[in-house]
Amino acid sequence: MDFTLHPLSPAIGVEARGVDISRPLDAQTVAALRRAWQHDGNGLLIFRDQSLDKDQQRAFCSLFGTIGGRAGALPTKRPRAFEGPDYNSEAMLVSNIRENGKPIGVLPDGELWFHHDMCYAVAPNRASFLYSMEVPKTGGDTMFCNMYAAYENLPARLRDAIEGKRVLQAFDEVQDRRLDLSVVPVEDVKHAWQPMVLRHPETGRRALYVNRLMSHLIEGLSQADSDGILEELYAYTEAPEIRYTHKWRPGDLLMWDNLCSIHARTDFPSTERRLMRRVTISGEPVIPAWEMRAAG
Ligand code: SIN
Repeated sequence: MDFTLHPLSPAIGVEARGVDISRPLDAQTVAALRRAWQHDGNGLLIFRDQSLDKDQQRAFCSLFGTIGGRAGALPTKRPRAFEGPDYNSEAMLVSNIRENGKPIGVLPDGELWFHHDMCYAVAPNRASFLYSMEVPKTGGDTMFCNMYAAYENLPARLRDAIEGKRVLQAFDEVQDRRLDLSVVPVEDVKHAWQPMVLRHPETGRRALYVNRLMSHLIEGLSQADSDGILEELYAYTEAPEIRYTHKWRPGDLLMWDNLCSIHARTDFPSTERRLMRRVTISGEPVIPAWEMRAAG
């Protein structure tokens, strides 16, 4: 199938036009889309004006890997604020629409800080495929940043400070501030120690693996020293010149690679409906960049 590629920004994102992803695609087209996603788009590929039901979205997603699940049950059984009917489904809703007073999807309202999906799991889902069905008139945009570029733009001083280091990634539903681990015990939330710089399994490139929402503590440092370095890093991970902001229309499908990009959502009015469907593909344990040297 012939399609054309249109860059969305200098650093990240490419749009494929002329392809109907609700239909079966031949192997050559899938390979070309994968190249566009991984190389032209640096981990972000978008399609507009699509019409996808849940099964068609799953079928498209499965062309790029094994359908992924949730991060697994928590060690404790605290009441969940946002558990909707589709919470554990492979096609999960992201929505602020409420039924019987409870959101029907996850990540329901307003702003969402920059994060890598599921970096708090040992084997995070590799990629997310988000399809829009209803969008607010204003706001609710999704911003993406290129984590290869974030790493490459770091000064030598910061690269040295994080070389070979791991960071504690943790998350528990809070969307627009970092969870306070002095109040919530880390054992009660999903968490994992991850390399601060990873080696991407497909491109072999180094990418920064820290984000404002989920990164809590650099190993071996005091909280204050760790916070100081993380804050410096965020000036690179969230820099406008490595960012693309997506303004949604119904019928958009965005697929992003969680190892080489971060994303965030802008605020939107609570009176407006936003309805998205998310399917993911599973991943492997994250490869630390320092294993590049060991591998030669
Ligand atoms: C997500 O982080 O998966 C949701 C992004 C969005 O709602 O725009």
